[in-house]
Amino acid sequence: MRTAEQLQEHVRCLAHTYNPYPVLLVRGEGVRVWDTEGIEYIDCVAGIAVCNLGHCHPKTVAALEDQARKLFHCSNLYLIGPQIDLAQRLCERSFGDRVFFCNSGAEANEAAIKLARKFAHERHGPDRHEILTMTGSFHGRTMGALSATGQERFHKGFEPLLPGFNYVPFDDVDAVADAIGPQTCAVMVEPIQGEGGVRVPSSTYLRDLKTLCHDKGVLLIYDEIQVGMGRTGTLFAYEHDQAPPDIMTLAKSLANGVPIGATIATEQVADAFTPGSHASTFGGNPLATRVGCAVVDTIVEDGVLDHCRRMGHYFMEGLRTLKDQYSFIKDVRGKGLLIGVELGIPGKEIVEECMKRGLLVNCTMDTVLRFVPPLIIAPEHIDRALEILNEVCALQ
Ligand SMILES: Cc1ncc(COP(=O)(O)O)c(C=O)c1O
Repeated sequence: MRTAEQLQEHVRCLAHTYNPYPVLLVRGEGVRVWDTEGIEYIDCVAGIAVCNLGHCHPKTVAALEDQARKLFHCSNLYLIGPQIDLAQRLCERSFGDRVFFCNSGAEANEAAIKLARKFAHERHGPDRHEILTMTGSFHGRTMGALSATGQERFHKGFEPLLPGFNYVPFDDVDAVADAIGPQTCAVMVEPIQGEGGVRVPSSTYLRDLKTLCHDKGVLLIYDEIQVGMGRTGTLFAYEHDQAPPDIMTLAKSLANGVPIGATIATEQVADAFTPGSHASTFGGNPLATRVGCAVVDTIVEDGVLDHCRRMGHYFMEGLRTLKDQYSFIKDVRGKGLLIGVELGIPGKEIVEECMKRGLLVNCTMDTVLRFVPPLIIAPEHIDRALEILNEVCALQ
């Protein structure tokens, strides 16, 4: 088997958009992954909130294998069975009536932006095209999604951005009310900011936003790409606040690692898309959507949401005990198994030391450790993760 060093020699053939650690992961099972050296890791990254059911979950493997023997791909010129099955499942379990499928989070947001603009264009004309998004938000790297992203560091060098986006402070409904004008067609928000540092807004935020958008005749879009599919302990994060949107985007964990994206909307809004308005060659591909069906069924039928809530409490309790021990741990926050640990020091060294000891964790915004393990994580994995983190914190 190739070693990480052997592979490292050829890494220059890749675009320099990533700076990977010299670790070559070759196998995964549940919450654990192994590298070429046979070293085992507890995976609290899970592909950044992608493998919600854990690595190689038997039901997703079975669905993928079975579908691979039948039909890999089929154009949207024809009906695609698993695509319709997944759309039906998502509509039955959410506010939505129609689903557009694509291949990534950024694409799902592009579809949401286009849909909001088309809906407003038809009702009010082209002037009503502006979308308000939040500072600290992250919506993806394509030009539309990048322009929606309220963080300058991602914009640098790619200007001019797409016109028609304005940023307002997160968790501040008054700021949104002040910013809504005659040109505003939608407000787009993550129910919890993930890349922005696991920022959880006040419990009334989404409901107040919903009321405001309704009163002003403006669409409400939720980006649930990171927080959806059970991550926060409910299938969709908006369920905690009982504040459904007009449009919602999903991706990441929707097919547990098979690339997929989805834009879900109410019938009234979705009908602004007509044949030819938008499309994607691979969108709703049989392989991805068949696995997506297995993911939804497993989350719903196997008690994953209840388990996620319990493990989330258990993990956060353990992290709060560490916070009491180490003064550089400033805050522990999150919902379900989307957990942020805010540090008073840069998190890079902690991430690297954890990795050396067999724990994968990621750091966002330089100082926030982000724990997004598979939702099937067991108490013994959490205990071991906390033990490693404790050892590493003691070095600081
Ligand atoms: C909230 C949110 N939106 C959009 C994206 C972009 O998704 P993708 O990388 O699949 O394009 C991400 C990715 O981290 C995300 O967390």
